[in-house]
Amino acid sequence: MARRSKEEVSESFHNAPSSSPEGGSASELGRRGFLAWFLGIGTVSVAGALSVPLVRFALDPLTRTSTETEWSDLGSVDDFTETEVPQKRTISIIQIDGWRKVTSDKVIYVIKGADGTLGVFTAVCPHLGCSVKWNDNNHQFKCPCHNGTFTNVGKLVSGPPPRDMDTLESKVEDGHLKVRYQSFRNLVKTKEVMA
Ligand code: FES
Repeated sequence: MARRSKEEVSESFHNAPSSSPEGGSASELGRRGFLAWFLGIGTVSVAGALSVPLVRFALDPLTRTSTETEWSDLGSVDDFTETEVPQKRTISIIQIDGWRKVTSDKVIYVIKGADGTLGVFTAVCPHLGCSVKWNDNNHQFKCPCHNGTFTNVGKLVSGPPPRDMDTLESKVEDGHLKVRYQSFRNLVKTKEVMA
């Protein structure tokens, strides 16, 4: 076999396609790299687009208000004839707390006004939220935490509470007194429903 000259060997070396240790040409590797990059970007974009509604769905309960409650039936209006001493009732309410439905007992008071209308108010003190109790001896409501006192219709008499006891929305339906329980912000002069 004829031996090739040094120049021929050198020329054929330069004309040969460049190769990598893995066996692919440089241009092939470039195409593969671009394809991998393109697929990676596409995957991340699709995952990002899909994750938005999923995250919204997952967080939705956290953004819902927890103060919307059903009307509670307090019984016949004929049961509420007292105009001097507020009548205590305990109602069970259901509230939405994130992903959970929470049932809790709430104390309320009902008193009949001079005009015959029924007033309903919560026992939660508007100062720091302690439970206000009726005191027969003083004929007043008294808060045990910081001695806030209120009249029998919930008007502030003395102490640190910034406002009267909070009245609740009520109505008479088919001869029954109904109330819609809500929670209100503490430490402010005006009644604000908690969001
Ligand atoms: S919590 Fe009622 S007076 Fe402070």
